[in-house]
Amino acid sequence: MSNIQSVLEEKRLFPPSAEFSAKARLDKDKLAALRAEAEKDPVGFWAELARRNIAWQTPFRTVLDDSQAPNYRWFTDGRTNASANCLDRHLGTKGDKIAIRFEGDKGDTKTWTYRALHAEVCKLANGLKSLGVTKGDRVVLYMPHTPEAVMAMQACARIGAVHSIVFGGFSSGSLRDRIEDAGAKVVITADGNSRGGNIIELKKAVNEALSSGCKSVEKVVVLKRSGHDVAFDAKRDVWWHELLAKQSSNCDPEWVESEHPLFLLYTSGSTGKPKGIQHSTGGYLLGAHMSCLWVFDLQDSDVFWCTADVGWVTGHTYVGYGPLSCGATILMFEGVPTWPDAGRFWKVAQDHGVTIFYTAPTAIRALMKLGEEPPAKYDLSKLRLLGSVGEPINPEAWMWYHRVIGKEKLPIVDTWWQTETGAIMMSPIPGATATKPGSCTQPLPGIFADVVDEAGEAIKSVEAGGYLVITKPWPAMLRTIWGDNERYIKTYFGQFPGKNLYVAGDSTHRDKDGYYWIMGRIDDVLNVSGHRLGTMEIESALVSHPRVAEAAVVGRPHEVKGESVFAFVTCKGARPQGEEADKLLKELREHVGKEIGALAKPDDIRFSDNLPKTRSGKIMRRLLRSIAKGEEITQDISTLENPAIVSQLQGKA
Ligand code: WTA
Repeated sequence: MSNIQSVLEEKRLFPPSAEFSAKARLDKDKLAALRAEAEKDPVGFWAELARRNIAWQTPFRTVLDDSQAPNYRWFTDGRTNASANCLDRHLGTKGDKIAIRFEGDKGDTKTWTYRALHAEVCKLANGLKSLGVTKGDRVVLYMPHTPEAVMAMQACARIGAVHSIVFGGFSSGSLRDRIEDAGAKVVITADGNSRGGNIIELKKAVNEALSSGCKSVEKVVVLKRSGHDVAFDAKRDVWWHELLAKQSSNCDPEWVESEHPLFLLYTSGSTGKPKGIQHSTGGYLLGAHMSCLWVFDLQDSDVFWCTADVGWVTGHTYVGYGPLSCGATILMFEGVPTWPDAGRFWKVAQDHGVTIFYTAPTAIRALMKLGEEPPAKYDLSKLRLLGSVGEPINPEAWMWYHRVIGKEKLPIVDTWWQTETGAIMMSPIPGATATKPGSCTQPLPGIFADVVDEAGEAIKSVEAGGYLVITKPWPAMLRTIWGDNERYIKTYFGQFPGKNLYVAGDSTHRDKDGYYWIMGRIDDVLNVSGHRLGTMEIESALVSHPRVAEAAVVGRPHEVKGESVFAFVTCKGARPQGEEADKLLKELREHVGKEIGALAKPDDIRFSDNLPKTRSGKIMRRLLRSIAKGEEITQDISTLENPAIVSQLQGKA
């Protein structure tokens, strides 16, 4: 509850600047008008937007089919193609406009116009067809954050193949699980790439994944990026440049039904393995497109830099699809914020004339720690809008962003959404909404949110926290979990039977102005540097080590990462102590890195004889969370089977 208290004390209010509002797509009045329209007729509201903003090959007549709710279907009889919307429709008017500016880790740069991007995408699409990929086939992308990743997404979309991107920081084991779950026919990867000066061994991980399973994979397309030697299977692998050399730069888009899956993206949940979140074509594209116009106020002259990797949903919606569907210029940067020095992000922003900058609180906090000098060295005067996504932004980081990067002038859009929601759900509208540091303010037009209690009843009181729910379907929502529709229904609509509420898994509260303050996950999902990790996944990775008997993982607040992984572990045999414990600790961290990926490595591991359980055998996670935070234990531990272990868990014995 201390969290609720602290945000309640946040009284600062930053009204939109008159200068920004005057040029913005939406000012206060226009936003109010949109909201009113959406409230009067939510379905009609989305229908009208879809007609005006998406290029349909066959117009839809059915807007929302809720006959199988909560499996909602939108624009069902319409046909469209995501790649045609992002590329072809701009060729006549913006063919020579730069679509993508790129800077590599080592400073190499390159640009693609819409025409050039279209040609590359067509060649790759034809290349994929020549490998036997057809509509509905799954293609896994395990790629560096370079324009070729966007080309690969667009090429899949173009021929109706379903892409599933696996973030390049995931281990070969995680990659294998995702390839197998998706039943992918083709994998697209690169030899490797450089990030922060380190080589990322992408092809090596693909080779490992395929040698331990993945029977569905027939071909691997390999982009030459790092140029270092990699093991190449001439029967299975094909170089990207050789594949494209033979292809025509024209490829008619495959017109798919609006509900045709555009992509799967695996994300962590409270239980079991990561789930393949399945998105549609038409509805998803509409959400991506409208949110770019409303939230980022995208204008023809903008250079939009979303720093998220294509491996996360933010990199899908705000790199791969949304801004391109608006005909904007995007910047992609392969590297990390602080390599080779603390000013890299700001140098990149300056050199490419970035006007809109969208990043994660963890990056802002890391940059904040490096002081005000690095950004002061660069000319950031082209910036006109700042954004944040991925986790709650603490007011201190918000104020730094506002003061040091925004020079106290630029609007900040704190955008709340999820892999499952497809596009931004709550955010200030920069020319219209007065912002409060730490609040994502209000739902976008056409999105209906609420705060409910344990029984699913709306909470009216402004002090009380509760579950964040979405009360009406929206076009960009996930359609199902790949191969497990029951899990979809149970996870997102099962919490309050009969109420038909989408449960986000976040807790929130709403203040007297109707502003939302997200307080974090209420399920067993951690948010480490803006990356979602299930505690269960990390626990099973730990338990797969031969020395580990049982493990419980919780989050601990962390200055830069937001949350860090804290593991309590019991071992087979005697509890390790001293040097043996140090050695095992290192080994377990590496083991988790190998099983899941470096991002999941625990910062803390504590060994104890048992884990704290109630007499019914449930692990007391609340107690472990307090211990991880180093809090005084005030809660009742009399139900503990073995109260003596508390001091071991605290690292005192
Ligand atoms: C958290 C990322 C507070 C939240 C787009 C959500 C946020 C989870 C915000 C989804 C925000 C994201 N303020 N919390 N502005 N944005 N979150 O699926 O807990 O990687 O449920 O999608 O991140 O993470 P995901």
